[in-house]
Amino acid sequence: MKVVIIGAGGHGQVVADILFHMWAKGRDLELMGFLDDDSSLAGKEFLGLKVLGNVDKLDDIGHEAVIVAIGDNRTRLEMTERLKDEQLITAIHPSAVLAPDVSIKAGAMVCAGAVVNPGTTVGRGAIVNTGATVDHHNAIGEFSHVAPGVNLGGEVHVGEGALVGLGASIVPRLSLGDWCVVGAGAVVTRDVPANETWVGVPARKIS
Ligand SMILES: CC(C)(COP(=O)(O)OP(=O)(O)OC[C@H]1O[C@@H](n2cnc3c(N)ncnc32)[C@H](O)[C@@H]1OP(=O)(O)O)[C@@H](O)C(=O)NCCC(=O)NCCS
Repeated sequence: MKVVIIGAGGHGQVVADILFHMWAKGRDLELMGFLDDDSSLAGKEFLGLKVLGNVDKLDDIGHEAVIVAIGDNRTRLEMTERLKDEQLITAIHPSAVLAPDVSIKAGAMVCAGAVVNPGTTVGRGAIVNTGATVDHHNAIGEFSHVAPGVNLGGEVHVGEGALVGLGASIVPRLSLGDWCVVGAGAVVTRDVPANETWVGVPARKIS
């Protein structure tokens, strides 16, 4: 399957690496290159793959599927809507450990060393980043980002577009509202309302 990676920044390169690992494990993938609307990246090469131009060039490139590999949650959502007629693949690093009943929706990304336990759903376009642990029966919302090293207890709900920052821990059965931000290193002991930013141990609202 011919795949174009949308986004050539840091996260795009992480996703390219995941796709190479999937290919090495026998997945039928042919990586065509990156597209990125940052014109300063055009012609550059990362992991041996070229940045072929801006996203409008997609129609000129033979492909069957894309993956929207943009780290910023809002931009990833908007780009996915712009490309709504495209087939989205998921990227799951072969070193990630997923229970057999985990549901990973289209366009989601699960990075190296992540662990996702039974009963969990990872929503469309969500990121479970490097080494994050997601315990049982979590609901990871669409276009959210569970950053590297995060620990989510059982039955946590992560809202749409939420960012759970590097190394944060969320105690079981809590709900993180849509588009909220949990700061790096936080320990969250209460529900976080939508659109708020909480930091610290225990986490408290800062905005
Ligand atoms: C929480 C966060 C979003 C705040 O960013 P911001 O809105 O730019 O806020 P500022 O840096 O201006 O900091 C505001 C205050 O909060 C404090 N603060 C910021 N982040 C903090 C954190 N993670 N833990 C504790 N305190 C924090 C700052 O020290 C500052 O305190 P002060 O007013 O007493 O000086 C950011 O610091 C953060 O933790 N982002 C997570 C990023 C991440 O993990 N991304 C994933 C990468 S793969």
